[in-house]
Order: sequence, then C-alpha cells, then structure tokens
Amino acid sequence: MSQNKFIDLACDGVKGLNPYQPGKPISELEREYGVTDIIKLASNENPLGPSKKAMQAMQEAMQEIQLYPDGNGFELKKAIAEKFGFDLNQITLGNGSNDILELIARVFLTPADESLFSQYSFAVYPLATQAVGASMNIVSALPEDNEMPLGHDLAAMQAAISDKTKVIFVANPNNPTGTWLKAADLEAFIAAVPQNIIVVVDEAYFEYVQEAGYPDCSKLIVKYPNLIVTRTFSKAHGLAGVRVGFSISHPDIADLLNRVRQPFNVNTMAQAAAVASLADDEHIAASVASNSAGLKQIMEFCDAKGVGYIPSVGNFICIKVGSNNEKLGAAEIDEQLLRNGIIVRPVANYKMPEYLRVTVGTKAENDRLLKALEKIMNL
Ligand SMILES: Cc1ncc(COP(=O)(O)O)c(C=O)c1O
Repeated sequence: MSQNKFIDLACDGVKGLNPYQPGKPISELEREYGVTDIIKLASNENPLGPSKKAMQAMQEAMQEIQLYPDGNGFELKKAIAEKFGFDLNQITLGNGSNDILELIARVFLTPADESLFSQYSFAVYPLATQAVGASMNIVSALPEDNEMPLGHDLAAMQAAISDKTKVIFVANPNNPTGTWLKAADLEAFIAAVPQNIIVVVDEAYFEYVQEAGYPDCSKLIVKYPNLIVTRTFSKAHGLAGVRVGFSISHPDIADLLNRVRQPFNVNTMAQAAAVASLADDEHIAASVASNSAGLKQIMEFCDAKGVGYIPSVGNFICIKVGSNNEKLGAAEIDEQLLRNGIIVRPVANYKMPEYLRVTVGTKAENDRLLKALEKIMNL
C-alpha cells in the first residue's frame, strides 16, 4: 500500500463529503440477515412498477443496445415538450433528476458561492454543493407543531439570501418530510428572489400530489427565467432502475446545463421507457390512486394507535416511532423490521432520529408493515 494520504489530494469540497446513503437493497438484507420474502419500502419507488408499455418499449430498445443512445434524446424531449407544452430547447435530460441537480451545481456554483436550502430537505442538495467546493446556507425549517411540520420556512429562506447565494433548492413536495408549498406562497417567494439567483423547484413527486392549491411551477418559467423545474421518471412512473429525469428551464439555462452534461447520460432503454410511460396516463392514474389509498391506510392506522406522523402528499410518510415507545427508539424498531423482512428508511442522517420514513406500498405491503409495527411497538 502506498504511504500517500489520498485524502490530502482530494478537492476541498470532497474531503468533507459524506456519501449518499441509499435504501438497503433487498439482496443485501437477504445476505446479511438470511431472511427471504422481503418488502422494500425505503426508496420511494412505485410499488406497482412501471407501465407495461414502458416494459415493452425497453424490450424493443434492447434490440439495438450495441449502439450508443441518442445523445440529444430527441424523441424523449419531443414527448416531454408536447406533453407539458414547452419547446425542445427548454428541456435537459438527466440520468435521474439527481444528475440534473449536479449539473446545476457544476454550472452555477463556485467555491465563492453558496447554495441555500431548508433543513430536512433532500440529501443531494448538500452533496452536489459540497462536491463543487461551494458553501451551504441551511435555513431552519418550520417547527414540528406547524401545519407543515419540519417543512420549508419560505419567509426564513427569503431572509437568509445573502450576496453569496447563487442557487436555491426548493423541494415541492419535500423529501423526507412529505410537506408541500402552496401556489401563492411559492410564487411570492420566487418573485422575491433576485433574478441573478437560480431557483430550482424539485418536483420529483409532482404526479402524486392531489392537494388543491399545489402548483405546477413549470408554468412559472415564462415569468421567472431564473427558475428551473426538475422532474423524474423514478417515482410515479416506476422507472427508478433505468435512471431518467429532466428539467424544464429557460433555453439559455438548458444550453449551459448541456455543456457539462455527459454526452450519453441517458441510456437507450431509459429513453424508450420514458417516452412510452409518458403516453400511459392510465398507469399514472392507477399509481396515484393506489398511493392515495395507501397514505390514508397508514395515516388512519397511526391516528387509531396514537402514533405521530408528518402528513405527507408524496408516496412516503415519516412515522414518529421513536417517541411513542419507551423501550425502543427508531433505530431498534428499524432493526426489528429488517429482521421481519421489511426495509424502511431511518432518517437519523437527516437529523430526524425519532422518525422512520416509509414508502407507501401496495395494500398487502402496508398491511404487513403496520402489523409488524403493531407487534414491535406493542401498540
Ligand atoms: C426530492 C427528490 N429529488 C430528487 C430525487 C432524485 O431522484 P432521481 O435521481 O431518481 O430522479 C429524489 C429521490 O429520492 C427526491 O426525493
């Protein structure tokens, strides 16, 4: 082994990075605990899977897999442009929307700049910021007794904008809290941000939200050219495994993102699947209906058992298991769920140590989770 301390060679931002902690894969739980018949409710995937049309499109696309993908993603951009009413040159494709968040950081953030975002928001915002050596301005979230517990405090975020602020990340709805921002409030915030600061509204869970007053911020781009809206095929479209997401922005911003994008960042099967999925509204409607029923099932259980939770509009919910049980904290409850073959997501890394974030599953999966919680927590 070399005597080099390679960490000394790394860029300053990278030295302090803690890698993203993904949900535990099913195969890992099988290996580590020797359990089978596992359900994974940890990464906010769609329990119904992808559209059958998307599966079919991937099988067809596989026939040409020796060829590079279309580096411009023409068919997919066209499908997105037509579906949502934009021009092709406003769309940037990403290897998941995570890729787009990183492209934004690389284009706009330098070590002299800061990104601004709320406490308890998506873990990739700090990662993307630190990786380019920029600093972070993390704004205190709303209190736990607010209508949107631990959600974004837009007034505080506005007040926290400084001369160094270059990019603001807003997740709507937010992960992991599942809280959301109303149209009038979010537009007032965007309007108040100086035009030389980029505002990213991350709409990864857009399709799932059923609340009246939830905004489609892509419609605001025409009014606020400093706005970028990101979306993904990983959640309601059920295509997390192939990695495809996109942003809608002013064409000049799309051009800049495109300059640092890997030429073939979205693979052939992902592009084909996404095009087919966009044409399958029925699958999205079924996925949304299943999610709404599942959210209701979980919230009703918590209400009946006196277990706290953060009301969510996404396809996941944070359950406050830690404070309900004198003997067991969230980490122990998580451990027991794992032994029962149920993978959920501890959120201690988000500094929410009393909560477990649970992805809404099928009725049968939710039944199994809730039964296990009932037993483990002695409810
Ligand atoms: C708020 C939010 N944004 C973005 C993403 C990134 O998803 P993907 O890269 O799969 O599009 C996630 C994934 O969990 C998320 O929760």
